[in-house]
Amino acid sequence: MIPDVDCDSIVYLNGDYLRLGDAKVSVLDRGFIFGDGIYDVVPAYNGKPFRMDSHLARLERSLAAIDIKVSLARKDWEELVLDLIKRSGLNDCMVYIQVSRGVAKRDHAFPKNTPPTVFCMITPFVRPGAAAREQGLSVVSMPDIRWLRCEIKSVSLLGNVLAKQYAVEAGVDEVVQFRDGYLSEGASCNIWAAKDGVLLGPPRSNLILEGIRYSLLEELAADTGIHFDARPISQQEVENADELMLSSATKELLPITVYNGKPVGTGKPGSVYTRLRAGYDKAIAEL
Ligand SMILES: Cc1ncc(COP(=O)(O)O)c(C=O)c1O
Repeated sequence: MIPDVDCDSIVYLNGDYLRLGDAKVSVLDRGFIFGDGIYDVVPAYNGKPFRMDSHLARLERSLAAIDIKVSLARKDWEELVLDLIKRSGLNDCMVYIQVSRGVAKRDHAFPKNTPPTVFCMITPFVRPGAAAREQGLSVVSMPDIRWLRCEIKSVSLLGNVLAKQYAVEAGVDEVVQFRDGYLSEGASCNIWAAKDGVLLGPPRSNLILEGIRYSLLEELAADTGIHFDARPISQQEVENADELMLSSATKELLPITVYNGKPVGTGKPGSVYTRLRAGYDKAIAEL
């Protein structure tokens, strides 16, 4: 028994469908030994994956970035995601996909002729409720101490784990990380600011994980006539922003209304957030 985990749910491991409670990998798996692997998380609403193409494209980019080759083509990934959703019987759910460099004698260098470990599981998606959407979240700032390949969705998440624990111990919902005085991202989300009606986000680079909601927010901003400026954003600009918000597959798009113990702007969700949020809800409804 693992608290809060449905051990009877069906997972995929290296070609087999198993009960989660029965799925096992070797202690020599490089995902376990080195954190040598990547992952992605595809949200689904009403049994339908949201932006699956973009998630699978990012999965393939992450695999290519660390030179892991899998036998699954794009179509196979799609079928796997759809199949798992169907088997789960869940409506709103998250499909977690992880690929590690496989099982081999412990040695840092890549092993030869070792098949990767491919694992997928499904968890229920408890969508953010009215309180988070209407009252917003609180965050604290902290230095970004992570490595310089944050664009890879790596399972080596120690920096992100420590950042999220920092938020928990500070009694807030998330952190806003800064590298050399400029905004990077949260522990498990992208962070956005708004000033004078303009949406501001850090540029796509190796310093952030480009969330699938990055392009989505660009599209929603264009649809609603909000100017979007992707550029380095200083700590001072974040402190003085009219609005702050965060995005991720699990948090969707939520306003941040308290920053380092002080209200952001009016202390209520602002108009840039409200317009983007309406677009986000429409995109889900139109799935
Ligand atoms: C570090 C980090 N940045 C950004 C994101 C947002 O990515 P997405 O919108 O694809 O969920 C995540 C999501 O898990 C994340 O872990």
